[in-house]
Amino acid sequence: MSNFEVIIYEKQNDIAYVTLNRPQALNAYNIQMRDELYQVLGAIKDDPEVKVAIFRGAGERAFCAGADLTEFLTAPSPVIARQVRWERDIWGLFLSITKPLIAAVHGYVLGTGIEIALCCDIRLASEDAQFGLPEAGLSIIPAAGGSQTLPRVIGRAQALEIILTGRWIKAEEARRLKLVNQVVSRHDLLSAAERLANKIKAYSPMALSYAKQAITRGLDLSLEQGLELEAELGNRLFNVNKRG
Ligand code: COA
Repeated sequence: MSNFEVIIYEKQNDIAYVTLNRPQALNAYNIQMRDELYQVLGAIKDDPEVKVAIFRGAGERAFCAGADLTEFLTAPSPVIARQVRWERDIWGLFLSITKPLIAAVHGYVLGTGIEIALCCDIRLASEDAQFGLPEAGLSIIPAAGGSQTLPRVIGRAQALEIILTGRWIKAEEARRLKLVNQVVSRHDLLSAAERLANKIKAYSPMALSYAKQAITRGLDLSLEQGLELEAELGNRLFNVNKRG
């Protein structure tokens, strides 16, 4: 896990820290980052020592300024083929993780940057964060799940406005829209994420996983089906607790 080039992956006290690490390019998301993130997500999913994960960006200026435009504009066809393969898998993998995931974002949070944050469960932003989905202006659509995850988080009309106009929004508006849970100072961003992570990791991993599944899977079901899912997960947990 230590020989990554554009992601720093660390584990400390049951918390995984994932740092997008191309600060010279505002942590733009390139093929290398996709390959490394795929491995990191697999590790978070499977490693019992990881109870919760925090995602953040290296450097002062950005969480992530979106897909790497140099690859987007010039990638030769084998690279594109590889890109498509990873695109197909990585967002499904991200969203299949049932452990709690926290995004702690600052500076530019654009395109894939927002979409990574949207694959997390709780989003904290620093006061300097700026959010945008510039894809329409590039004649593409969000391709990292954003067209599906954004409306599920902030609602259909707001998501349509942001995606169709490419309008950028600042941290405080992001909080009002419920795109982020909290806005904190830049200085407090990591410690605020760690406070949350420490609180969460004290609880039963199975209860956390089931609660996350009940909510995230339930949102795509009818109320009736959602209640059935809740009952099923609740009963399973009850039986485990009774045996344990
Ligand atoms: N892909 C590749 N490189 C990027 C990048 C991206 N998405 N975003 C920024 N960079 C690079 C710049 O090319 C520049 O590199 P250089 O120093 O080698 O020239 C460096 O990061 C700093 O960016 P710069 O544009 O000089 O900073 P700025 O403060 O003037 O502008 C932004 C910041 C975010 C407004 C601007 O970089 C930008 O618009 N980036 C593209 C955003 C985007 O459209 N993303 C794709 C979404 S699908």
